[in-house]
Amino acid sequence: MIVPGYRDHPTERWDPIAPVDPGEAEDFLRQCYLENPRLGPVEPRLAIVRAQIAATGGYAHTTEELAYGAKMAWRNSSRCIGRLYWRSLVVLDRRRARTADDIFSLLVHHLRVAGGGDRAGAIRPVISIFAPALPGQPYARVWNEQLIRYAGYRTDDGSFVGDPRNEEFTAAMQGFGWQGKGEAFDVLPIAVETPAEGVRLYELPERAILEVPLTHPEFGWFAELGLRWHVVPAISNLRLTIGGVQYPLAPFNGWYMGSEIGARNLADENRFNMVPIVAARMGLDTSRESTLWRDQALIELNRAVLYSYEKAGMKIADHHTESQRFLTHLRNEEKAGRPVPADWTWIVPPISGGATPVFHRYYEELDLRPNFYLDPEAQALAQSGTRTCPFSG
Ligand code: ARG
Repeated sequence: MIVPGYRDHPTERWDPIAPVDPGEAEDFLRQCYLENPRLGPVEPRLAIVRAQIAATGGYAHTTEELAYGAKMAWRNSSRCIGRLYWRSLVVLDRRRARTADDIFSLLVHHLRVAGGGDRAGAIRPVISIFAPALPGQPYARVWNEQLIRYAGYRTDDGSFVGDPRNEEFTAAMQGFGWQGKGEAFDVLPIAVETPAEGVRLYELPERAILEVPLTHPEFGWFAELGLRWHVVPAISNLRLTIGGVQYPLAPFNGWYMGSEIGARNLADENRFNMVPIVAARMGLDTSRESTLWRDQALIELNRAVLYSYEKAGMKIADHHTESQRFLTHLRNEEKAGRPVPADWTWIVPPISGGATPVFHRYYEELDLRPNFYLDPEAQALAQSGTRTCPFSG
């Protein structure tokens, strides 16, 4: 379904894209061809790319360069604990799509492939790469921070329904004419913006949204909380940069680590804030912090997430397993003679940090390219559904 949106945006407010830096192009191509001898010698390719940049300010990646560049960008993502499988990323080349309708149907396709297709739940890491931004020209983008996110509504009595993180974005979508059910897990519409069409809102079809209702292995009452979460986390507002070329629309996904849902999305005070509710249902002594009621409730919430996804046949990983995989990745990369940039504050899981091996060491903090970046404008759009960031003055 399409919700009518508005069709004007002043072109001067687009982030101007600079011409490609030939040095960055060369660095990328040298590394890409070095790591992939079957691509042949890099020198002839460099000559072509240098000429293209000189003539047009940009250059076009070959299919192989695009695919390997996307994998390198994942490999270089210092906040991601799940990088062991970087080589298996499925890269969908969508550079020819132009209209909002085409883009949206390819996003639906992305979610279907990512969700395992006919083998629903066999989650595959996938990236769809749309057209690069050309110097000085406006480009297509998706406003949402993820393809699937839940709406958040402040009700008249001051209470809250849904995900508070998306309150402003939800209000902006309502301002464009979208109407949610007003329930706790209403999937937000996707806002696709193209230079020719402005922003258009699309409702995802049900078949594109895998979700799991949460139950607990022992607590029968847990189902009554009415909790659920989606299965595919597909980040849609980071700019992919490969060899100096900018891809502002390149949504990608992996599978969830349970603690992202159980220890953050459903637990954080400024998200679904379920810890006190679970603790009350468990009958815990919440009169003092030192009973560790928060920790007990958190663990049960996380057990419910892992249990429910596994029972539903939906791929998910626990934080112990994912930590061990990350150490394997570190060893693999060391053998290959490559550094592994990592941000300790993101790598260490939000529960039982010290019980996982990733806690007990330091990491190199490097900003290597290719990589993914969050632009201030993309951040403002995902947060508030408007171009101007309210906090940037
Ligand atoms: N933490 C984010 C969320 O809960 C998702 C980030 C990406 N996570 C992943 N497993 N690939 O929605």
